[in-house]
Amino acid sequence: MTVDVLLGLQWGDEGKGKIVDVLAPKYDLIARFQGGPNAGHTLEFDGKKFVLNTIPSGIFEDNTMNLIGNGVVIDPIILKKEIDKLKLAGVDLLAKKNLLIARKAHLILPTHQLLDASSEKKMGDSKIGSTLKGIGPTYMDKTGRNGLRVGDIHLPDFKNKYNKLVDKHKAILSNYGDIEDFSEREAAFFDALELLKQFEFVDSEHTVNQYLKNGKSVLAEGAQGTMLDIDFGSYPFVTSSNTTTAGACTGLGIAPNKIGEVIGIFKAYCTRVGSGPFPTELENETGEELRKIGHEFGATTGRPRRCGWIDLPALKYAIMLNGVTQLVMTKADVLSGFDKIYACTHYNYNGEVIDYMPYDICSIKPEPVWKEIAGWHEDLTGIRQPNQVPEKLQNYIDYLEAELEVPIKYLSVGPDRVQTLVMC
Ligand code: GDP
Ligand code: IMO
Ligand code: MG
Repeated sequence: MTVDVLLGLQWGDEGKGKIVDVLAPKYDLIARFQGGPNAGHTLEFDGKKFVLNTIPSGIFEDNTMNLIGNGVVIDPIILKKEIDKLKLAGVDLLAKKNLLIARKAHLILPTHQLLDASSEKKMGDSKIGSTLKGIGPTYMDKTGRNGLRVGDIHLPDFKNKYNKLVDKHKAILSNYGDIEDFSEREAAFFDALELLKQFEFVDSEHTVNQYLKNGKSVLAEGAQGTMLDIDFGSYPFVTSSNTTTAGACTGLGIAPNKIGEVIGIFKAYCTRVGSGPFPTELENETGEELRKIGHEFGATTGRPRRCGWIDLPALKYAIMLNGVTQLVMTKADVLSGFDKIYACTHYNYNGEVIDYMPYDICSIKPEPVWKEIAGWHEDLTGIRQPNQVPEKLQNYIDYLEAELEVPIKYLSVGPDRVQTLVMC
């Protein structure tokens, strides 16, 4: 058995949560492998809507186990809120015993959030546009070998370790100015740890490999998107983890030869939230229209998402980096009603026409070379079968498949679970 991976190919918010929820019945285990509560994964079914930040999107499937892997960074306060909300909605994770947490996952402390906010404030106009969830500082402590891990909370000297790290953070924070009072958040942090202790902690590397050994199926759920990858994204306007397939290996403890299908997900257009380069961004009425029709506001922060047409050089780069074997296109319904849509096929860059993602897209802006494509007017939200796909949308799909050289296996035509077509 191998682990399938589902991940975003753009700048996040491609619809990963929805599609993982759709695929969950096929899998015995769904495992988040990186990122933290900077993620907001939206699921809709039976007229209900949920946004998950840390909990894998298989949580509503009765026969599927869920795992928060070692590569994830966990804010216990946010995780507790997610657990409490699910309980109110009738999904009691403690009773169902369907959530495992990796001991090696790192903890986000209240002071990590303060550090995130102070660092962004200091950067002024050049800020990353972080979600301010403490992601960067937590991964910095992980790679700096100072971090606290979930398994540490059972250690007798946990409080000492915590205080030592907080002292270090206070020393850094004092350079930024007065330190905000975080006593309330600290109390909430320790309170949330008590809830966390009631869950089963595991070594995710053993759990996942044991699932495979027992012939069980596993889906790794990515957060963020490839263009936010710490190594290959639009650095420095990225997140602090590897969002690519390789991140599933380190974030769960699986060998590269255990990766099976890689399911890459993208919107029929493109969005980005936060700062940083976005070659196909439309800073005009069309961009506004996409935002309005697509309800493009961040699931975690509520910030308006920047919108633009599809970017093929960026998508091809993402497909290469991840070894994508199947594609999912979401939000095709949002494009209904446009007479013409556009795809960026190349960039005008530094006096040349290029078809790849160059090293520096921050100081030199790649100018898109557009291909005009006939749009469609049919409402897609009620279609359920590939033979109901309007001709002009089918032409768009055929064009993308030819360019990207990977089949579009699923087409999403609305936010609800049922608004999903299996194409081939
Ligand atoms: P994720 O972070 O990749 O899970 O994506 P988000 O949940 O942040 O953002 C995707 C948004 O689009 C959510 O509001 C989804 O409910 C919604 N969505 C997902 N697929 C579709 C689709 O095919 N059509 C429409 N209109 N909305 C969709
Ligand atoms: P999901 O999983 C979209 C963006 C932030 C910011 C940059 C760094 O829902 O697709 P961070 O908080 O990680 O330090 O922010 O990355 N970002 C996301 N954008 N979707 C996400 O997650 C994101 N997680 C982080 O807006 O530009
Ligand atoms: Mg999201």
